Amino acid sequence: MNYQVIIPAAGLGKRMGAEINKLLLELEGQPIILHTLDLFIQDSKCKRIILVINPSDQKFFDRHLQKDQWKKIILADGGEERQYSVLNGLKVADPEGVILVHDGARPFVKKAVIARLVQSAVQNGAAIAAVPVKDTIKKTEGLHVVETIDRSSLWQVQTPQAFRFSLLYQAHMQAQNDQFLGTDDASLVERMGHSVQIVQSDYDNIKLTTPEDLFFAKAIIDKFRKS
Ligand code: CTP
Ligand code: MG
Repeated sequence: MNYQVIIPAAGLGKRMGAEINKLLLELEGQPIILHTLDLFIQDSKCKRIILVINPSDQKFFDRHLQKDQWKKIILADGGEERQYSVLNGLKVADPEGVILVHDGARPFVKKAVIARLVQSAVQNGAAIAAVPVKDTIKKTEGLHVVETIDRSSLWQVQTPQAFRFSLLYQAHMQAQNDQFLGTDDASLVERMGHSVQIVQSDYDNIKLTTPEDLFFAKAIIDKFRKS
């Protein structure tokens, strides 16, 4: 089943603490965002990539992407918040079929996970990649522990998140109308009362957020090379 993907890549990368957008940093000889883009450029099921960027990074992409790599990429302007960047992407997308949203900062998503997400979105409308929570999670008031939450029902949510286009568009419009800002796209769909399905992903699919994540990323690439 074919799909299109929105890749928000217009953040500031504040927690990475680099001088530039973290996605432009090199990881094993190639900028992080190119690792992520490559996955979708090479997936024949991916018909269109909507790359959401800060216009000031446009020159970087002109320099780094070859002519044939641009074939299925269209650009959209980033917004102040990730949610607005995704909405800008939705506005230039093909309003048909299944659309994925995938963070530019997650270069290790597997093709099999993408395929299962697309299939689930066709059947259920909305599906998200996630892994079971490994740590014990406690709820607090300040630093005082109030409750230990049963871990067996907790999932750590990742991207990609996959949706029927019409459902995601409607959810974003509704959120904009209500001035609601969610931490992921699925939360906008959930607040409309629509169910969201989990597709179990894996622990390699990390988001590069803080400087130590760059070391984890190198280790993951090493592991892929050995396997
Ligand atoms: N993103 C975006 N537009 C924004 C904010 C974030 O397109 N206004 C993108 C980022 O480029 C990233 C993804 O959304 O690929 C996930 O966001 P995050 O990991 O938080 O990246 P940043 O917002 O860049 O980092 P930070 O929050 O540390 O500043
Ligand atoms: Mg952010």
